[in-house]
Amino acid sequence: MTRARIVGTGMGVPDRVLTNLDLEKIVDTSDEWITTRTGIRERRVAAPHESLSDFAVPAARRALEMAGVKGHEVDLVICATVCPDMPFPATATMIQDRIGADSAAAFDISAACTGFLYALGIARQFIESGAAKTALVIGGEVLSKYLDWNDRSTCVLFGDGAGAVVLQGTEEEDRGLLDVALHSDGSLGELIFRPGGGSLHPPSKEMYESNLPFIKMRGHETFKIAVRSLAEVSNETLRRAGVAHDEVAWFIPHQANRRIIDAVGQRLDIPEDRIYVNIDRFGNTSAASIPICLDELNRAGKIHEGDLVLCSAFGAGLTWGACLVRW
Ligand code: UT7
Repeated sequence: MTRARIVGTGMGVPDRVLTNLDLEKIVDTSDEWITTRTGIRERRVAAPHESLSDFAVPAARRALEMAGVKGHEVDLVICATVCPDMPFPATATMIQDRIGADSAAAFDISAACTGFLYALGIARQFIESGAAKTALVIGGEVLSKYLDWNDRSTCVLFGDGAGAVVLQGTEEEDRGLLDVALHSDGSLGELIFRPGGGSLHPPSKEMYESNLPFIKMRGHETFKIAVRSLAEVSNETLRRAGVAHDEVAWFIPHQANRRIIDAVGQRLDIPEDRIYVNIDRFGNTSAASIPICLDELNRAGKIHEGDLVLCSAFGAGLTWGACLVRW
């Protein structure tokens, strides 16, 4: 059986760093509150002229370079994002053009913070079925553009950036993407949403005056569901793959809140030294969170051949999911 294997990783983030101390000057908050309640110390924020493709294209190029794959060899480009350069065409087609993937299919998908895992699940099907030989999957966001910088309950949480992986088929037994589990519950859509700018609230003066273009989140309610869902879906994928918790070399949870990460780690009984955390430096980068972690771990040489890597994510929709990879 052909399985999809990650053969390259990459990331791209803005140069500009916004610290908690910087935020103290913008909104009624404190470094102490943000650090203790979320674990975030700083995040990257795009400059006014920068957009998603400015980070997604370098992330894609780095992943391709690591994989030793030329742009024209890529036959599928999927970009997971809720911050595309434009509502259409898809940012994936801009990436496709800029990397020279002349014969690739390219499209965006929208599953918020779970978007990268949804895109990975789709790309996996293309590779396993033989419909694609080389797939590029990108998760990227520029959520700073959709934050209400007067709303301290959201503007301190998010950061910008993109991560990418290249997938190719392998015939090796027990290698590559062993399982992907994906879920949703649209009845809880109003826990995290950005209501303005779509066909329900199209661009208009009233839309801007009602603050609709910006992210709204009921954080406290979301927190509890996030912990439960991340633990459940992680267990689901381990169970389906017949893998025990102590066999997991690295657990990469979505970086939404340090307290969520710790609570899920405890529920899964995975020790802290096997849980990757970079929320202190990047904040919540939504769909970029997991691929940025993967690239940092991979480039630091901390993932070894044969290691089992478990990733799980949770976000707006609500959506949640997990994947298990034998590196
Ligand atoms: O990635 C998508 C999924 N997202 C998540 O999973 C996010 C999940 N939620 C969270 O991470 C947390 O709920 C937050 C970090 C968003 C909030 O932490 P919390 O401990 O749940 O705080 P809270 O919302 O219950 O607010 C507690 C207090 C409130 O003040 P009062 O009403 O107790 O006086 C807030 O107004 O903290 C206040 N507060 C702040 N204070 C200083 C909220 N934000 C801030 C802030 N600085 N930035």
